[in-house]
Amino acid sequence: MSHAEKEMVLDVRHLRTEFGLAERPLVAVDDVSFQVRTGEILGLVGESGSGKSITLRSILGIARPRGRVSGEILWKGRDLVPLDEAALRRVRGREIAMIFQEPMSSLNPLLTVGLQISENLAAHTELDAKARKARAIELLDMVGIPAARNRLGDYPHEFSGGMRQRVMIAIALASNPQLLLADEPTTALDVTIQDQILRLIQALSRDLGMAVILVTHDMGVVAETCDRVAVMYGGRLCETGPTADVIGDARHPYSLGLLRSIPRDVAPRTPLYSIPGAPPALNALPAGCAFTARCPVAGPECLDVRPSLEAAGRQRQVACHHREEALAHFSAREAAQ
Ligand SMILES: Nc1ncnc2c1ncn2[C@@H]1O[C@H](COP(=O)(O)OP(=O)(O)O)[C@@H](O)[C@H]1O
Ligand code: SF4
Ligand SMILES: [Mg+2]
Repeated sequence: MSHAEKEMVLDVRHLRTEFGLAERPLVAVDDVSFQVRTGEILGLVGESGSGKSITLRSILGIARPRGRVSGEILWKGRDLVPLDEAALRRVRGREIAMIFQEPMSSLNPLLTVGLQISENLAAHTELDAKARKARAIELLDMVGIPAARNRLGDYPHEFSGGMRQRVMIAIALASNPQLLLADEPTTALDVTIQDQILRLIQALSRDLGMAVILVTHDMGVVAETCDRVAVMYGGRLCETGPTADVIGDARHPYSLGLLRSIPRDVAPRTPLYSIPGAPPALNALPAGCAFTARCPVAGPECLDVRPSLEAAGRQRQVACHHREEALAHFSAREAAQ
């Protein structure tokens, strides 16, 4: 199925999440729009503090009560933003599930894994106790836990880091979610286990038609796992598009810097911290482009005029006033190397 033929399940429009005083807000997510389709994995990539986790939490309604969320979060056509807690609870953990970087933070150390899956099944399905047990075994089996039947009575600490992450995915899958929000789910794991978990998420997305938003700060993870990518900086999107296009032919100075500063023929898991300068503090962002202070091709208007995300070829968008200069700058630099 082509990209356009897949059903759009999530349509986020002008999402804004702010904290602190209304008259002097800290804007963690600023006018962010993107879509996710059935069976598609969208990578949300950017340095630490760029607003990735808050974006996911805003979708689930768990950036509240302190975070103020506005814009539209159209989930299968229905806007989640105005929903109250009770209505959100029917969506959260059921139609939309989330997994985190550190499984121990969302697993209960005092309950067996079998019981935790069973509880989730009881909350979200009509299955009786016997059917829940059978389904729990099936889920652990599906995420690749060997001898699943014998592990139901084990506690989280009896699993290795990679296996715990699988358990967390099994719990998230218990309700048959149509969207999985995965917040740096492999960052704490070693590279081999990381790959296994990413392949698992890919297979689940493909086989179950599940949409996935995968948050990461690692372009290598994006390259190997995601269908499309959205690059985030200072709470805003700078560039979106199909993964191969964005990685092979980046247009925004931030993405160009991220990608071109990685030497060729280097192992794919190169973190993003190679751009000169530091990510901006949210309370010190200019009115214009968030990247101004670190951008090699910034002009005087960049400080005051905010660039909007505009179409840049097939299924691609870029937010920059100086795209041509950016391309010229980075290709000249490359030629000189
Ligand atoms: N409850 C909160 N109150 C105030 N600021 C917050 C809160 N939660 C997150 N932030 C700020 O929002 C910004 C984005 O955070 P986050 O989404 O966690 O970044 P990322 O996941 O990309 O590393 C950070 O600067 C963080 O300090
Ligand atoms: S050229 Fe201007 S608008 Fe484009 S990334 Fe640099 S600072 Fe932002
Ligand atoms: Mg985060």
